[in-house]
Formats: sequence, C-alpha cells, structure tokens
Amino acid sequence: MTKITAAITAVGKYVPEYVLTNKELEGYVDTNDEWITSRTGIKERRILKGDGLGTSYMAIKAAENLLQKSNTNPTEIDLVIVATATPDLLVASTATYVATEIGAVNAFAYDLQAACSSFLYGMSTAASYIESGRYKKVLLIGADKMSSIIDYTDRATCIIFGDGAGASLFEPNTESLGLQDEYLRSDGVGRDFLRIEAGGSIMPPTEQTIKEKKHFVYQEGKTVFKYAVSNMADVSEKMLTRNKLTEKDIQWLVPHQANKRIIEATAKRVGVSSDKVMMNIHKYGNTTSATLPLLLADYEEQLKKGDNLIFAAFGGGFTWGAIYLKWAYNS
Ligand code: UT7
Repeated sequence: MTKITAAITAVGKYVPEYVLTNKELEGYVDTNDEWITSRTGIKERRILKGDGLGTSYMAIKAAENLLQKSNTNPTEIDLVIVATATPDLLVASTATYVATEIGAVNAFAYDLQAACSSFLYGMSTAASYIESGRYKKVLLIGADKMSSIIDYTDRATCIIFGDGAGASLFEPNTESLGLQDEYLRSDGVGRDFLRIEAGGSIMPPTEQTIKEKKHFVYQEGKTVFKYAVSNMADVSEKMLTRNKLTEKDIQWLVPHQANKRIIEATAKRVGVSSDKVMMNIHKYGNTTSATLPLLLADYEEQLKKGDNLIFAAFGGGFTWGAIYLKWAYNS
C-alpha cells in the first residue's frame, strides 16, 4: 500500500494595514531605531486597529486568501486549527468561529497554544490527522494580535511584537512529499522567564492586577535569548543529522522570527548561507504563531516542488522544535 504523507498544498496571509515604525516607538519609550535594528533586525511591524477586532479577524482574512488562491471549497475542509496565544475569548475557541465564518460548515475546529511554537506544533498535529487517513483537508492558521497583550510603555517587549496571520492547507500526498520528520520539545522551567501573570486560573483579574500591568507580556529577554539560540540550533542540526542531510541538501531554513541574531545563529549551526534563510522580521517583527505561515506566503513563488525545508521555532513555556518538510508544488 502507498504510504500517505501530509503535504502543504496552499498558503495564504493577512497583515493589518497600520505600520508601527521604530520612529513612532521612539515617541512612546526610551529607545531608538539604531538599537532596535542592530539588536533585533526589526524596522517596523503591523498593528490591528479598530474596536472589536480580534485575532479571528486576521485568521479569517488569511484563510479567505488561501481559499481564493487555491480555489478550495470550504465545505470540503475537515478540520480547522487556529494556532494562537491571543484567542478572541478565553473559553469559546477562535477556530470554531473562524471555521463558521469562512464557510467550513463540515469541519470541527479548535485552538492550539504553544506560544511562539504554536504553528510548528500545529504542523505536527495537522500532519498526523492527514497521515491517519481519516481526514483529507486540514486548515492550519497561525494568527496573533500581539498588540492586545503588549504594554507600550515597556521597551523590553513593545519593540518586538506585531500582529498578523498566515494559513496553510494540509492534504494527503502519495509522492512522499510533505512532512518527513519532526523533533518537538518543551520545558516548564520557561514560564518564569516569558509569561502573562494575571488573567488565568492562578491569578484571576482584579483591579490590583490591572494597576500592576500583570495582563501584559513579561519577558526576561537575555535568558530567553540564550535558551532560544542554543535550542533552535540544536533541533535544526538534529533534523539534518537524523535524516542524513548536509547543508547542500537544504533549499530553505524557515525559522521563527523572534530576533535576527537568533535566526543567524541557527543558520550558522546548520551551515546554510543567508540566501537560503527565509526572513521577514524587518517588516513584521515577531508575530508569534504567524511567523512561519507568513514566511511561506511571502516566499511561495520561490519555492519549488521537492525543495527540502527545515522549520525551527522557540517560544514561551518553553516550547521548541524543528520539522523537516518536502515542498509539494510549484506556484
Ligand atoms: O519569540 C519568543 C521568544 N522570544 C525571544 O526569542 C526573544 C529573545 N530575546 C531577545 O530577542 C533579546 O534579548 C531582546 C531583543 C529582547 C533584548 O536584546 P539584548 O541584546 O538581550 O538586550 P538586553 O536586554 O541585554 O539589554 C541591553 C541594554 C540594557 O542596557 P544596559 O543595562 O546595558 O545599560 C537595556 O536596558 O539595552 C537596554 N535596552 C534598550 N535600549 C534601547 C533594552 N531594551 C531597549 C530598547 N531600546 N528597546
């Protein structure tokens, strides 16, 4: 019997119109364009403006972009997963609303949360459903409205994050294309260094927690940086050695966009040159769950059937990992 693999067969994206530049941030906190550019690689990020617009707004737009480009009938979708750290609501899942709004009326849907590794973990989940043979079309959307959880008076975090969404469709493949291997890790030690303290079950919201700004992202940047550099490089290298690949076999490194220096360190360890490294951090910043699918949408036209892609991510929790995937189509 032919082995079924899970391939990405279409991608889509959405970023909000509003551009928040380093220059504008200079008006909010004690920072400057030179510091932000040299320490992170970020020049600008997109921000979703407008009352009542949440993560679902961007997820729906990214999904509609994918459906329209690929001429996919939404009623054929079996499952919608929204990878996000900023759901519309704490209980009703964002994915359920997104599925209904895009017309995926025959799908079941749920959210997946692993901070900046949400989309990477989601790729593993989506692929497993396809490989099981039980489902034929799984829509994985990575979307985050980071501006809803950022304190724009905290220079340690407000310069980094942006809003956006990207979508990928997973379908069965009989040519051995698609997901080949994965190595996913986590370590609970991380929650001291990157977290939102209040609003969850440990510390429900009170006037005091709001006054103390505990509903915003807190990050001990230096510590997270160290863990991210070594772990992202380790797992990426493991994908190569475990699959007997050399840097010559790799067409693209697809790294989470948290910091240009982390991306460059990962590329160096894997041995790939900068022209093989997907990068859009300069224009979107860190969009958390959306970085990987936004990269795929931005680079789609350069991707060729059979290309070997190594995905790598690191995020809060801590969560991290790498995936080896063979691209399945020419656009
Ligand atoms: O995606 C999820 C995972 N997250 C990450 O991977 C993020 C990992 N961390 C980072 O990317 C970096 O640690 C940051 C970009 C957050 C910070 O860069 P850094 O090189 O680690 O800077 P630092 O925190 O060590 O700060 C260096 C200096 C400090 O001043 P002193 O103590 O040397 O006088 C900071 O106070 O830079 C100062 N600083 C700033 N200066 C201007 C910190 N933030 C800023 C700022 N503008 N925005």
